[in-house]
Amino acid sequence: MTEQKRVTEMSNDEIKEEVRKAYAKVAQPTSSCCGTGTRSDYAKALGYSVDDLPESVIESFAGCGNPTALASLKEGEVVVDLGSGAGLDVFLAARQVGPSGLVIGVDMTPAMIEKAKDNAEKLGVKNVEFRFGEIESLPVDDESVDVIISNCVINLAPDKSKVFQEAFRILHPGGRMLISDIVLEASLPQETRDEVASYTGCLGGAILKEEYLQLIRDAGFTDVRIISEASFNIATSAKIEAFKPRS
Ligand SMILES: C[S@@+](CC[C@H](N)C(=O)[O-])C[C@H]1O[C@@H](n2cnc3c(N)ncnc32)[C@H](O)[C@@H]1O
Repeated sequence: MTEQKRVTEMSNDEIKEEVRKAYAKVAQPTSSCCGTGTRSDYAKALGYSVDDLPESVIESFAGCGNPTALASLKEGEVVVDLGSGAGLDVFLAARQVGPSGLVIGVDMTPAMIEKAKDNAEKLGVKNVEFRFGEIESLPVDDESVDVIISNCVINLAPDKSKVFQEAFRILHPGGRMLISDIVLEASLPQETRDEVASYTGCLGGAILKEEYLQLIRDAGFTDVRIISEASFNIATSAKIEAFKPRS
């Protein structure tokens, strides 16, 4: 058997290819979940109400929080979900912004985009769009968005500064960003950072909490704060809020 290359020796493109491969598997209906329960149990434990959604939306859910619940979305708002997966947060946000609003999901894994589009058709939802692309170069116009949400994705991006700069670019002045993501309380052991499965499992690419918040501030956001957090050893699932200044 050939030994797998270490993540810390890979280029950003090679890392993203591993992430794409991993999430193409999660897009399959048979993908396994989070301990002994089902993905539906897992989503409910995070505060989601999923009973009226088809199994094909829930079975590929891979978030670590519930950013839509925090975003206080209003009728008519335009929302972008960074790394939208099979679309759970997009569909919930679409209900909140109503027919005069729009929710755009962006994801770089073709199988996830296809699945999300199928789900939209199944649900008959019209105020959503799923766009194939990377969150480091968003297929979204400048200053065209009211709210950005993201659920357990930015830890997977090798260039997190670029992601926050792009988020800042597409938001209207006064727009807001609500993220659920994994951050670290202390540095990971080298072997964890080297392992592909740790990286694609949302741990190996995570960075220190303070570093993460500083990258958001460096992109131009203000009032950056952690709304709540739950720690598991050195990893923390954090809910983070940030604003683009009005002028
Ligand atoms: C852990 S899953 C979370 C999916 C979704 N947010 C959810 O809560 O179910 C990560 C998703 O982000 C996507 N992703 C990871 N890195 C990305 C990047 N750099 N650009 C776009 N999508 C990315 C993956 O394809 C995958 O669908």
